[in-house]
Formats: sequence, C-alpha cells, structure tokens
Amino acid sequence: MIIVTGGAGFIGSNFIHLWLENQQESVLNLDLLTYAGNPENLSIYQEDDRYKLIQTDIGNRVLIDQILAEHKPRAILNFAAESHVDRSILGPQAFLETNVMGTFHLLESTRNYWTKLPLSQQKDFRFIHVSTDEVFGTLTPEAPAFTENHPYEPNSPYSASKASSDHLVRAWHHTYGLPTITTHCSNNYGPYHFPEKLIPLVILNALQGKSLPIYGDGQQVRDWLYVRDHAQALMTVLADGEPGQTYNIGGNCERTNLDVVRTICTHLDQIRPKADGLSYAEQITFVTDRPGHDRRYAVDTRKISQSLGWEPEETFETGLLKTIQWYLDNPEWVEHVTSGAYRQWIQTQYQQP
Ligand code: NAD
Ligand code: DAU
Repeated sequence: MIIVTGGAGFIGSNFIHLWLENQQESVLNLDLLTYAGNPENLSIYQEDDRYKLIQTDIGNRVLIDQILAEHKPRAILNFAAESHVDRSILGPQAFLETNVMGTFHLLESTRNYWTKLPLSQQKDFRFIHVSTDEVFGTLTPEAPAFTENHPYEPNSPYSASKASSDHLVRAWHHTYGLPTITTHCSNNYGPYHFPEKLIPLVILNALQGKSLPIYGDGQQVRDWLYVRDHAQALMTVLADGEPGQTYNIGGNCERTNLDVVRTICTHLDQIRPKADGLSYAEQITFVTDRPGHDRRYAVDTRKISQSLGWEPEETFETGLLKTIQWYLDNPEWVEHVTSGAYRQWIQTQYQQP
C-alpha cells in the first residue's frame, strides 16, 4: 500500500482519485484536516476498502511511527503543507511548523521505518516530496524557464518554508540514503481547488456578482498546470523516477493573471450569461498588490519529458473549461467550503463580506 499525506487537500485528493481509478493498491491518507483539508473531496471512496483516512499531524512522531509499522507502506507521497502565499504573509508560523518541522518529523519517522525494512524493500521504497516552482524565486519576462538546477531564491514565507523542506529531503537522501525524490510543480488548477486561490476565487466571485480582485497591475505570469496532469506526473515519478533526483512538472501554459481572469469571464459569459447582459469582466477590480509579489514563474519540463516520457494532456483552454464546468456542477461542495472560516479569510484579506 502507499501513504499520501495531505490527501484531503486540493492536489492530494485529485491524486487519490486518479490512483483509485487506476490501481488496486490501497491508499492511506494522513491529513490534519486544517481549513484546507476536506474529507468530502473523497467521499465517493468512503465505503471502498482500498481507501482510509486517518486525521493526524505529519509531525506527530508517535502516531506516524505506529502507522508506518502497522501499514508497511512501499511509498509515501508528501503533499501535506500550508500552501497559500497570502496566508503566509499574514501569519508565517504555521508554515514553519508544518512545512519545515512537520517535514522533518515525517522524514525521521520514515527513516526509522525504512532502516528496519529488508534490503530489497529498502531499495524499492520511495519518499516523494511535492514541492513548488516558487522555491526558485522570480523570473524576468525574457529569462529562460526554471530548470531543476536553478538556484534557490525563495521570496515569501511560504516559499522559504518549502525551500527549507526541500533541503531536508535532499539531506536525508544524501546522508542516510533514504530513497527520496522531490518534484517542483507550477500553479495547479482544477476540481476541488479551495477558493482562496486565484482561479476558483474568480469563478465563484464572478457567479456571485462580487468583485474580481487583481493584485497590482495583473501582469504577473504563472505557468498553469491542470491538476490531473500533475497527479499523472507524480504516478510516473513514483513508478520510474530515480531516487535522489528532482523533477520539474509544468503545464507549458504561461499566462498573465489579467489574461487568466479575462478568459474565465469570457467562458462564463458564454456558459452562464448574466441577466443584465453585461460581461463578468465588468467585475474586475485592481487592488493593492501582494507584498514581495513574484513577477513570473515558468518551469522547464524537458527532464521529466525526456527521461520519464511525461507530458501534460490538457491545454489551458481545455483544462479551464473543465474546471469552470466542475464548479458549476458542484454547488453543494462550493456551499460547504465557503462557509465559516472561509468567510473570515475573505473578510480579512479583501475587506469584503
Ligand atoms: P492544500 O492547502 O489544498 O492542501 C494541504 C493539505 O495538507 C490539507 O488537506 C491540509 O489539511 C493538510 N495539512 C496541512 N498541515 C498538515 C499537517 N501538519 N499534517 C497533516 N496534514 C496537513 O494544498 P495543495 O494545493 O493541495 O498543495 C499540496 C502540495 O503541493 C503542497 O505541498 C504545496 O506546497 C504543493 N504545491 C501546490 C501547488 C498549487 O498550485 N496548489 C503548486 C506547487 C506545489
Ligand atoms: O507556483 C506554485 C504555487 O502556486 C504553489 O506553490 C502555491 O501553493 C499555490 O498557492 C500557487 O501560488 P500563487 O501565489 O501563484 O497562487 P495564487 O492562486 O494565490 O495566485 C496566483 C496569482 O494571482 C498570483 O500572482 C497572485 C494573483 N492573485 C491571487 C489572488 C488570490 C490576484 O491577483 N488576486 C487574488 O485575489
């Protein structure tokens, strides 16, 4: 069986969906169920013997040690993290606790378990660490995309905490021989994306007649990756990736934020036209920029493409249409995640009800 940490979040739950659609092997999901963790993302597997959720902090060494000894995973995929840059600016501590110390404890529990495995199982074991392109810092408009060898230049508390965790993972491989692989993916989008992030926030605000907040001039560039393409890449890395290596995973879809938001508005104008005949683009509002806002991310995916044969299947246009349709088709999910703590966050971040 395999263990997924943070599997009740956006990318982890999409990974588990893809896994259970394609594999008989069981998945144990270890998730603290923070504001971002939602068991409903995987409710269709509630009665499936191949799936189990245990609510735990990845830093709970005693419990994780017990779980590893009992379930004997052949791999651990570590998605668990505090993941939102704006939250890291307002309150960095949780990011250090989970992303740095949590990863440290998880690595130690894993090492403790792994050293006791028979040699053949030690060789085949994998610890996949899901990192981000943000650890490489920011690019100028004409600079080449980040390769795996780009220097680490994290600029936000979030990316600094992810960079720290990457260094720990690297060191646990180099010093103890733990078979780790780190992946650096670009901005994901798709089903189950918590609406604090740009794309789901804009889709839902548009439909509710609220303003569509663009930080600064909206000319920042992100490289958008459809989440199931990312999940497929991680399955490929787990199967064929080489321990000690790092792999970039990107969508080859660079877009400015303003372009992304305008494209969402254009699609919504066609799929769900407004009663007043106006375009959703009328709701676009430029707001104060994010402090330290990285200007551009882009990842060079030649390594994973050439060595493991992975390519994204979705273009931004096909992936975005699927995403918009998913939010339109799942009003109950939206209603559940946009209550309580979510409203408080929107109030704090955007000073709007
Ligand atoms: P998310 O915020 O949607 O989900 C994070 C999950 O981790 C939640 O289910 C949460 O409950 C769980 N969690 C948080 N702290 C925990 C702890 N201490 N112990 C156990 N579980 C804990 O995040 P996501 O967008 O799904 O991102 C998953 C991973 O991918 C993260 O490591 C993130 O840094 C990385 N990443 C995300 C993106 C993106 O675009 N979303 C891009 C690059 C990398
Ligand atoms: O690049 C990978 C990273 O992508 C991941 O490591 C992070 O976990 C993930 O959250 C994401 O980070 P970003 O900061 O790029 O994503 P976010 O959706 O928060 O913002 C995307 C861009 O849109 C960014 O330039 C900020 C801008 N933005 C965001 C919000 C929420 C706005 O202009 N307005 C907004 O309201």
